Formats: sequence, C-alpha cells, structure tokens
Amino acid sequence: MLRIVTVVGARPQFIKAAPISTLLRERHLEILVHTGQHYDHNMSELFFSELGIPLPDYNLGVGSGSHGQQTGRMLERLEEVMIVEKPDAVLVYGDTNSTLAGALAASKLGIPVLHVEAGLRSYNKSMPEEQNRVLTDHLATLLFCPTQTAVENLRREGISEGVWFTGDVMYDAVLRFSGMSQERYGAAGGLDRIMGGVAFQGGKTELSAGQYYLATIHRAENADDPQRLEGIFGAFGMLDKPVVVPMHPRTRRILGEKTASLPQNIVVIEPVGYLLMLYLVANAYMVLTDSGGLQKEAYFLRVPCTTLRNETEWVETLENGWNVLSGVDSDSIVRNAMRPLQCVGCDQRMAFGQGNAAEIIIRRIEERLGR
Ligand code: UD1
Ligand code: UDP
Repeated sequence: MLRIVTVVGARPQFIKAAPISTLLRERHLEILVHTGQHYDHNMSELFFSELGIPLPDYNLGVGSGSHGQQTGRMLERLEEVMIVEKPDAVLVYGDTNSTLAGALAASKLGIPVLHVEAGLRSYNKSMPEEQNRVLTDHLATLLFCPTQTAVENLRREGISEGVWFTGDVMYDAVLRFSGMSQERYGAAGGLDRIMGGVAFQGGKTELSAGQYYLATIHRAENADDPQRLEGIFGAFGMLDKPVVVPMHPRTRRILGEKTASLPQNIVVIEPVGYLLMLYLVANAYMVLTDSGGLQKEAYFLRVPCTTLRNETEWVETLENGWNVLSGVDSDSIVRNAMRPLQCVGCDQRMAFGQGNAAEIIIRRIEERLGR
C-alpha cells in the first residue's frame, strides 16, 4: 500500500481530484491536503459535498495574497505536513500556486512528485500558470499528460523519463458526472426554474436551451485590468442573446459596483457547483471564456466555444473550429461569438483519452513506485 499526500487548493483541482481520489483509496492510503487557496463555500466545500470527494485531512488556511506571500505560506505549511506524514509520493494537479508549492515542498524533501496535467504550455511566460507548470514539470518524477501535445512539449524541454500520455482526468469527470447533472437539473424544471430566482436587470430571466451564452472570466490578464474587463462585458452587451456569467470572486472584486450597471442582457450569478455548471454548458448556445477547464468541457459536450485569450494550452479544441481564439478586442469577441456554427455535428477526434485517465495514472504510479 502506498502512502500518498495529495495537494489541492483551487476549484479546478477539486474537480480533477474527484475521479482519482476515489480510485486511489481503493488500494492505497491518501492524505488529502487543502491549501485553502480557495475558501468561499461555492469555490470549495460545495465541490467536496457534490462530487463525493473525501474531506481534507488538513486545511492549511492560507487564503488569498500576493503570489509570493500565498506560495510562501503554502510552502512552509506543506513542508510541516510532509515531514509528519512521510509520504511515498506527493500528488499535485494542474498549474496553480498550490501545485507549485506542493511540488517544491516535496522535491526539497526528496519526496517523488507526481504531476497530473503535466506538459501543458501556452508559451506565454507572463502567465502565473505557465510559470507554475513549467517549474512543476521540471521538479516532477512522474508526469501524466492529458494529450499527446503535452508529451511532445515535455520532450522538447528534455523531459522524457517518467512521462505518459494518460488522457485527461477532466474528461473522466465529465463522463462520470454528466448523468448526475442531468438527473438533478434536467428534472428540476429546466433553466427557467434554475434561473427563476436570479436578479436580471432586463426583467425576468428567460433562458431556454440553446438560446444563451455561458461566460466565465477570471484569468489575471483579463480580470485584473478594469478597462479590459469593461471592454469584454461591453462586447457581451452587443450579443443577441442573454449571457449568463457565474462570476469568479476575483472578477467581482475588480468590477465592484460596476457589476450593477452591466449591459441588460448580462445575467450575473454567483459561482455555481460543478453539476449545475455541466448543465449550463450542455444547454448553452456557446461558451465564452478564458478558463482552461471550460474550453475542454465545451469541447467534450459538443458546445462551440470562443476563448478570450490569444493562445491556448488546449490546441486540440481548435481543430474543426470548435473553439476559436478571439483575444479581447470587442469587435473580435462579437464577430467570433456570432460566427456561423458550421461545425455543429462534425466529427471530432478525441485527443483527450478514453475517459479512464484516473485508472491509467494509478496503474503507472503503482508500477513505478512499486507496492
Ligand atoms: C487561481 C489560479 C488559476 C486558476 C483559478 C481557478 C493561481 C496563480 N491561479 O486563480 O490558475 O485558473 O484559481 O479558479 O494559482 N477569492 C475569493 N474567494 C475565494 C477565492 C478567491 O474571494 O474563495 C478572490 C480573492 O479576492 C483573491 C482572488 O479571488 O485575491 C484571486 O484568487 P486566487 O486564488 O489568488 O487566484 P484565482 O484568480 O482564483
Ligand atoms: N466551474 C464551476 N462553477 C463555476 C465556474 C466554473 O463548477 O461557477 C468549473 C468548470 O466547469 C470547470 C472548472 O470549474 O470544471 C474550471 O475552473 P476555473 O475556470 O476556475 O479554472 P481553470 O480551469 O481556468 O484553471
């Protein structure tokens, strides 16, 4: 039996951990550490309860702060946990500050680092996520790649030992939770009932399947620049359908009181749980986002996507025009959001594995760490 410390801290990491934690615990001992990077109920606990993720054994309560402050606090507290728990390996997910802190604390103690979602690159070094993922990959002992592109990216940086294509655990999660999402929300009376209580400046919200945009914006490069943010929401205001925005707390903080005077077709709601999010994606006309996870969920659920960035790590989603990069220029956002959807129904090449990434990852860990 292996003794694995898993480090999570941010919303997408809870979702990624869900398929792996359950399986891992069938044969091994997992000690789950939540850094406390995300802490609001609907950014954290909600995911544990909805997705049946075991409760964290430790919550380090680091909260928000500057990058150095947040990562530094995590590093100090994670090291203490690792010294006490003496794990055989430390498992980290994705590219957040929690990922880097987990990888760094472990490797300084000589503990093998297992990186799920290794090899992703935007080649934009000013992104905090790019810094975190490059450093984590270079510290990792075993690297689990969601796509072949990721394997190739690592090879170009001289990393080929301990690298595997496993498929994407977020695809596992979509397959595993879509039915539950449909059961819970499909039966709840549809979108009207879900959105019924939501304040909407244009009057009563009327949302019907396939007739609204679903948008999320939280990437630092977009959210931290108030002018840029206003430009993005201004472009949403020019669209011909309601735009539902489950608003990330970072974005809400920057927009502040301007949230109340956004264009009338914009429906701002609090961040929602994963099951409702899957339902909202599956029924959307199109997804507009700067999120990594959401670009893929749109692709998996066959909903077109416009990505409000100049590059993406998930280049496979661009094939067939399923996903399009618009940047944040208003005209470009509007043009791409209203583009003819020629691709609906066209064949996709699934580059993200078979939906059994969690199983493959655990098997590889067992083979490599032996036990
Ligand atoms: C982090 C990750 C990003 C990931 C995102 C997922 C880093 C550098 N960034 O960005 O890669 O895509 O999580 O959502 O790790 N806040 C709250 N309540 C919370 C959490 C955050 O109010 O529960 C607010 C705080 O004002 C905080 C701000 O959001 O300062 C940003 O939070 P932080 O965790 O630093 O970065 P994210 O933008 O969430
Ligand atoms: N998500 C969610 N509720 C929301 C917004 C997003 O459950 O209100 C989910 C989304 O479906 C995806 C994940 O959170 O699975 C993506 O997280 P986020 O966009 O915060 O981070 P990123 O993927 O960009 O790192």
